[in-house]
Amino acid sequence: MFGIPTSIRNILGWLSIEEAMAISKCVWESGGFPGDLVEIGNYCGKSTVVIGECLKQGASGILYSVDPHEDGLKLYGVDSLKKLIDNLEKYHLNEYVIITEETSEEFSKKWDGPIKLLFIDGDHSYEAVKTDILRWSDKVVYLGWMLFHDSNEGGVAHAISELDKDKWGFQEQVGSLTIWRNRVR
Ligand SMILES: C[S@@+](CC[C@H](N)C(=O)[O-])C[C@H]1O[C@@H](n2cnc3c(N)ncnc32)[C@H](O)[C@@H]1O
Repeated sequence: MFGIPTSIRNILGWLSIEEAMAISKCVWESGGFPGDLVEIGNYCGKSTVVIGECLKQGASGILYSVDPHEDGLKLYGVDSLKKLIDNLEKYHLNEYVIITEETSEEFSKKWDGPIKLLFIDGDHSYEAVKTDILRWSDKVVYLGWMLFHDSNEGGVAHAISELDKDKWGFQEQVGSLTIWRNRVR
């Protein structure tokens, strides 16, 4: 359990090993819940590999990972889609991860299933995070997880501050990752 290959350190991205372990723990603890896992924003696949590795090692569900990869070359000077595909191959995760090259908005219109773990790490502006929450959070099952990376950043922090705290119970902060749990049936 919680086995994360230390080689994920070599994948481009911002996730620390401690944050990766915290994500992994949530994936394992969502084992008995209905639904799948959804990730908004994958870049080169660091968090995708972390979640995918848990699924490969026996945690239940499929990860749907959404990112249009429009900014890759422009913003970060990296062909993030190619690196993502290479990383999924390298870690043998294609059976466990479905990538979709769309925006969160586009993909949310097609999605109507339950979600046991939602990881929001896409566009970090207040408007985008707020809209991601509105689009996706209602699909998270009772006791399911909602995680935000870079949750100390202005736009992300602002959107999180407006979460319905009767529904979303704060669980933990690890680095810039905050972890919330749906406590409403
Ligand atoms: C901070 S990076 C994600 C990092 C990744 N989770 C990791 O662990 O390395 C943010 C990503 O969000 C993507 N993104 C930007 N706008 C988006 C949107 N509307 N829907 C989905 N992804 C988006 C960008 O293309 C970028 O790759």
